[in-house]
Amino acid sequence: MKKVPSAFSPVIAVDRKIAKPLHRQLYDSYRAMIVGRALRAGQQIPSTRALAIELGISRIPVLTAYAQLLAEGYFEARAGSGTFVCSTLPEQLAPAQHRDALLHKVRRGSRPVAGRTADLPMGENLPWLQGFGAFTISHPAYEYFPFQVWSNLVMRHSRNPNASALHYGGALGSEDLREAICTYLRTARGVRCDPQQVMIVAGSQQALEISTRVLLDPETSVWVEEPGYWLTRRVLTLAGCRMIPVPVDTEGLNVAVGIKLCRKARAAYVAPSHQYPLGATMSASRRLQLLDWAQSSGSWIVEDDYDSEYRYGSMPIASLQGLDSDSRVIYIGTFSKVLFPSLRTGYMVIPPDLVDRFVAVRQALDLTHPHLYQAVLTDFIREGHFARHLRRLRLVYGERRTALVDSLHQQFGSRLEVHGAQAGMHLVVSIPKGFHDQEIAERAALRKLWLWPLSSTYLGKPLRQGFILGFGSTKSAEIPNDVQRMKSLLVAEKVLTD
Ligand SMILES: Cc1ncc(COP(=O)(O)O)c(C=O)c1O
Repeated sequence: MKKVPSAFSPVIAVDRKIAKPLHRQLYDSYRAMIVGRALRAGQQIPSTRALAIELGISRIPVLTAYAQLLAEGYFEARAGSGTFVCSTLPEQLAPAQHRDALLHKVRRGSRPVAGRTADLPMGENLPWLQGFGAFTISHPAYEYFPFQVWSNLVMRHSRNPNASALHYGGALGSEDLREAICTYLRTARGVRCDPQQVMIVAGSQQALEISTRVLLDPETSVWVEEPGYWLTRRVLTLAGCRMIPVPVDTEGLNVAVGIKLCRKARAAYVAPSHQYPLGATMSASRRLQLLDWAQSSGSWIVEDDYDSEYRYGSMPIASLQGLDSDSRVIYIGTFSKVLFPSLRTGYMVIPPDLVDRFVAVRQALDLTHPHLYQAVLTDFIREGHFARHLRRLRLVYGERRTALVDSLHQQFGSRLEVHGAQAGMHLVVSIPKGFHDQEIAERAALRKLWLWPLSSTYLGKPLRQGFILGFGSTKSAEIPNDVQRMKSLLVAEKVLTD
């Protein structure tokens, strides 16, 4: 027999002492809940039998009320499945109108919220973030992910979990995963670490958030790369910090300028392996300068190492953290680029003397990372699937990156400058002065070209206009056509002549 899913019982009270008949009370309650949208279109409601038992009344008034609600179109019956709130409710109950009505409802009294939230953009609907396809950034090549292996591991760890898998874990996360990550980081990224210093977190974003809460107070000055990663800035804005935009050039963050602007900054947030978005790798001399500055001014360095697994035509670059002899670097890594972003799993390596503070802050936030995917990831790494996947992706992205660089060269020659194509899953093209990349990006989205405008990554006045082009999720064979479409757009926008 087909199993009918069971529905939640709505909050309906019946009162036998009042004159109104029970069936009318039920009808009125259901109707009010549907009109008030406590019950939504298509939502299942309990069977007459279940509701009668729940309310401790006979089934007859329930049957009468349901019959009327069915007749009036509030309910619909689906053969073999049960009774549902009608999926095509009248227009005045439609979600969009309802949201409008909610927003415009008159409310009394003051409604204070944290002032800093006003510094964050709200209701933002960036057109270049709306689609998936040509040039979207931050999307890996999902089609190469070994889903079979992954789902077997998920199965392995969800079948008969023991109590420790179900209970709260420690704030640092699974020891086995921390051990596996340490082996990887020591070997492949030149990070000096030990599992007691590693914290598993919900992606780089949470690592940035926790680091900020531990290291910075409101009004503290902090260096950020200019241009730089928008989500680092959101964290610092929310924390009320004073951001000092320090320019980057082909050698990465210009430390001398940073010192001139604000020697006493409490921290510097940098991506030395692959600066976002311009793609520079910080030179050895700048790395040493940065570490010297941190040591002499008693400052911290937050190293965002988000996609350095992918390098083309040059040796892997060891982390800045590995050069640091004074434990001033908080190293952050993520599985978003090497596995997939919705995994929301990353890690940080914390200076040993700060571990207790990081743990205390983490406990005040979300306690720990969910257990299941930590266990799955541990086996994925230990059994060699991670290394294999990385090797394969390096080849795939290498091909895609070559296809993009070649197509850009063929279509534009030297008319568009390309930056940062030596690593990662994106590169940048800059356009001549006098054009507004954000306006062009809005029109590009109408052609299903997802061009991230470079100017939006500047805190101050943008020095360059251009586009960040992702190539991780586009097959090599499709890239020439996408570049051709981008050229048609730029010709139509008069950025280029044909
Ligand atoms: C500079 C930078 N850092 C970190 C990340 C990854 O963030 P998360 O680990 O929160 O997904 C990205 C993703 O695009 C990025 O561009």
